[in-house]
Amino acid sequence: MKFSIKSVYPDNSACLVAGVFESRGLTDAARAIDEMSGNYLSGILKRGDMEGKAGSSLFLYDIPSLKAERVLLVGLGKREDFGEKAFTDAIRAAIKALCASGAKEAAFLLMDIPLEGRSVSWKIRQAVMAVQDSLYRFEDFKSEKAAPSPSLNKIVLVVDSAGEAPELDTAREQGLAIAEGAALARTLGNLPGNVCTPAYLAKTARRLAKEHDLDCRVLERGDMEKLGMNSLLSVARGSHQPPKLIVLTYKGGKTKPLVFVGKGITFDSGGISLKPGEGMDEMKFDMSGAASVLGAIKAAALMRLPLNLTVVIPAAENLPGGNASKPGDIVTSLSGQTIEILNTDAEGRLILCDALTYAERFEPETVIDVATLTGACVIALGHVATGVFSNNDELAREILSAGNNSLDRAWQLPLWNDYQEQIKSGFADMANVGGRPAGSITAACFLSRFTKKYAWAHLDIAGTAWKSGVEKGSTGRPVSLLAHFLLKRAGKLY
Ligand code: BES
Ligand code: MN
Ligand code: ZN
Repeated sequence: MKFSIKSVYPDNSACLVAGVFESRGLTDAARAIDEMSGNYLSGILKRGDMEGKAGSSLFLYDIPSLKAERVLLVGLGKREDFGEKAFTDAIRAAIKALCASGAKEAAFLLMDIPLEGRSVSWKIRQAVMAVQDSLYRFEDFKSEKAAPSPSLNKIVLVVDSAGEAPELDTAREQGLAIAEGAALARTLGNLPGNVCTPAYLAKTARRLAKEHDLDCRVLERGDMEKLGMNSLLSVARGSHQPPKLIVLTYKGGKTKPLVFVGKGITFDSGGISLKPGEGMDEMKFDMSGAASVLGAIKAAALMRLPLNLTVVIPAAENLPGGNASKPGDIVTSLSGQTIEILNTDAEGRLILCDALTYAERFEPETVIDVATLTGACVIALGHVATGVFSNNDELAREILSAGNNSLDRAWQLPLWNDYQEQIKSGFADMANVGGRPAGSITAACFLSRFTKKYAWAHLDIAGTAWKSGVEKGSTGRPVSLLAHFLLKRAGKLY
């Protein structure tokens, strides 16, 4: 999709998109069309064909004294309830209607609807992301596409503040870059486990390196053996797919690097502690952390952010097998600490702990890991917020604020030492599970034992990385949160 920003709309536009609030409240743009057309819109609204309900839309044709071929009215819901979500929902509803129409071009008269605390740049970035996100399709394995590709190919974002033009254009480019990162993450997540293996993730990283001039290094099993990454390696033992440790670096600045670590379990059967069969297919999404950090580095490179970012991905497949780890096995992690594996289904922390220790060698400014780590996080926060844990409150605040700014929200849970009790082991330095109470917190406590040397945060995306049910598929979260975190760090968030 091509986006342009204009302060006056092209009068002969194929479609003008304007918002109406519930109970006939016209936005300024809709009122202007109404006045120009001799109150044509008010007439339609009076007849009750468009009530302004959130998510609704109505095409109008042949409007008196208007050159545009059509007007699309989109409902914004009640004026007093209008907020960020209603804004992006209206954009998504408009795209849905436009794709079903023959319009090639549309001018969105939605950027000047007042939204408390949000700049025009923010609205542009969010609008671009919402459009791209709603146009995303994953049909790689469908012989017939569900719908023909829409004729819509150009969107004009109409603003009345032409003064900030350069910033608005940057916001547009940021929106496009973040959307590309999110689309990459969605596709990697949606790919089946027999395609998206650890080797496939490594190949994707190498391709990104070529396309965006990044450095890529992939550690093979032998390299990891030499280093002593026995915790990571123990997870891959049951599978025929060799594990990989992928390291991808973007250099855009002179400061200490930020490091993003992403859980890359390309299928999680649970291993010998086998999961129940129902819904097990969804464990192909267990590499969503890896997918999201790849999406984030892609966005950072596209935006040419003035900072350094290294992505580390421990990748493996967790299967049962004759050589697989068993409950009771003890491994020595890269850090030297020993781990009693009481449950082979708590494998995410076993691969992450070695990657987190490995991250020390980059002398990081900050490390953030992203993982579909615990079913307990879905119980705690549902599918709304990503769980945040940190050994540094300032960092946690930055992440929560990136979540708010991106609408890709997160919520902090405590990491108090009291919870460390639950992962004590009688046989090793720690156990890999801490029982049912506070399962997400004890998982984070486990990771915290490997992150003492730097400012660290852990994002549990078990509830947010994908959707189940009829809309089953990867969401691309938290690429947008991570990208907003980077934008803020780079001083480029307008
Ligand atoms: N990948 C799962 C976590 C998960 C489960 C994410 C369901 C999303 C939906 C993780 O590897 C896992 O199996 N965790 C266990 C930990 C337990 C054994 C302590 C869990 O959550 O049940
Ligand atoms: Mn598991
Ligand atoms: Zn898992």
